[in-house]
Amino acid sequence: MLAHKNVVVLVSGGGTNLQALIDAQNRGEILPGKISCVISSNPQAYALTRAKNAGISTLAVPRKEYGSREQYDEAILAVLEKQQADLIVLAGFMYVLGEKVIRRYERRIINVHPALIPSFCGDGFYGLHVHEAALNYGVKVTGATVHFVNEVTDGGQIILQKAVEVEEGDTPQTLQKRVMEQAEWELLPKAVSLFCQGKIK
Ligand code: GAR
Repeated sequence: MLAHKNVVVLVSGGGTNLQALIDAQNRGEILPGKISCVISSNPQAYALTRAKNAGISTLAVPRKEYGSREQYDEAILAVLEKQQADLIVLAGFMYVLGEKVIRRYERRIINVHPALIPSFCGDGFYGLHVHEAALNYGVKVTGATVHFVNEVTDGGQIILQKAVEVEEGDTPQTLQKRVMEQAEWELLPKAVSLFCQGKIK
């Protein structure tokens, strides 16, 4: 029996990727991982309700309650240490973690990004903006990427990717929904499962 691994999920919004992780956990698919805590940068995030409904402990660490980025990073770091996080999952976490957190948890932080990195990624590319940029460019295929987090925004090693077709008449909203349904909600639990089983080299 493998030792259980504490998975801490960081969120800011609706939490559909968190929900995909909860559903996978309920099906026994992320073992030996266990979602031990959900932390939100936004106290109003619906993701917190999803976690509570699943009986997972939650914590809001509101960005606006901390002055500098360094102070906020210290607050996040303190919670991660207290939780004894083995893996940190950024699931729609709309804050770029600072170097201190990233170094402390090197190759133990993963992020889901709603495009095929290296396209439509980096500073300013988050949420619907990513799909807007893909549609403006006119790409016919986009997708999602799960990657390790390093000091470069969306620049860490790629773990999994999946392509999704852009359809005639897509809006950022319809494209976002298809990318979530066909790629993100499948890739993120899969990556967590691979990590927790020690299968990512
Ligand atoms: C997801 O599409 C996720 O890939 C994206 O935000 C959305 C969060 O949705 N993340 C980024 O853009 C990070 N750069 P959710 O709260 O429903 O999971």
